[in-house]
Amino acid sequence: MQDKYIPAVDFVDKLELRFASLAGLYCCRPLDALINQSFFRRGIGNHMKYPSVVILTGAGISAESGIQTFRGSDGLWENHRIEDVATPEAFIRNPALVQRFYNERRRQLLSNKIAPNPAHAAIGKLEREYSGKVWVVTQNIDNLHERGGTRNLIHMHGEMLKMFCEHCWERFDIAGDISSGDQCTACGRAGGLRPDIVWFGEMPHQMEFISELLEHCDLFVAIGTSGNVYPAAGFVQRAGRAGATTVELNLEPSQVENDFITHRYGPASKLVPVLIDDIMSGEVISGANL
Ligand SMILES: NC(=O)c1ccc[n+]([C@@H]2O[C@H](COP(=O)([O-])OP(=O)(O)OC[C@H]3O[C@@H](n4cnc5c(N)ncnc54)[C@H](O)[C@@H]3O)[C@@H](O)[C@H]2O)c1
Ligand SMILES: [Zn+2]
Repeated sequence: MQDKYIPAVDFVDKLELRFASLAGLYCCRPLDALINQSFFRRGIGNHMKYPSVVILTGAGISAESGIQTFRGSDGLWENHRIEDVATPEAFIRNPALVQRFYNERRRQLLSNKIAPNPAHAAIGKLEREYSGKVWVVTQNIDNLHERGGTRNLIHMHGEMLKMFCEHCWERFDIAGDISSGDQCTACGRAGGLRPDIVWFGEMPHQMEFISELLEHCDLFVAIGTSGNVYPAAGFVQRAGRAGATTVELNLEPSQVENDFITHRYGPASKLVPVLIDDIMSGEVISGANL
């Protein structure tokens, strides 16, 4: 396994980090504490093929749970143009529309129609039962990984069940609707509450920590992501350059399919449990379509 050092600035360039405008807005968890954890210490668990596993997930993993993906064939998200509901400019232009969009998504997520599928459950099982370390970095804003048993989880694009105040930056859990006129219970000001979603043009959460994970992982798996959204679409290159085996699981080849060593194509609910069994039984991961 190569252990090449890649300067952070190179990483930022390569990832086309176009979220820099709000850099520093979000806090990363203390890195030094995490770096001391066994995940970052190569050499342990030498008997294992993959002592450290990083799984990147996208909207495709939740499709069979009843949540639409971002880019259906029509290029819309739940019948809305991305520019109308997923940018800071859209929120300034029409806050009521944007709040309504996420309120609807939140209500749908909390309805009894939506539940984790076998792919979420298999990943939860891997974290519980595998002797190596497992981290999930999700672009999804739903809570299906948590409900599937995953604890080592980073919501790099935020969460539907959280909101924050643009005046005082306090974060809150939220299960009901958010209205732009609502008063913040922390600072008392009205008009600043918004969903804790990373919109296009904003800085994803915990990038420093994700960078450390990629630098030290042995197996990188991307599931149900189209490879259109950066910086997440560049993670495979980063993990590959650090020496990891890289695997794409998707319905169809993604935009960055050529960056992966191995591919398996089919529905996540079928592919993921098989892959997880392969990892847990110590097999070398290779391609196999369903
Ligand atoms: N569930 C959610 O939280 C959700 C839903 C829609 C959009 N989003 C947001 O949209 C952005 C979208 O980028 P993205 O790359 O995650 O999604 P995307 O919609 O761009 O791509 C989804 C990918 O999943 C694949 N796919 C569809 N059904 C699948 C299945 N059953 N099994 C395996 N693969 C399947 C598609 O072929 C596609 O390549 C993210 O930033 C995310 O925050 C999130
Ligand atoms: Zn406030």
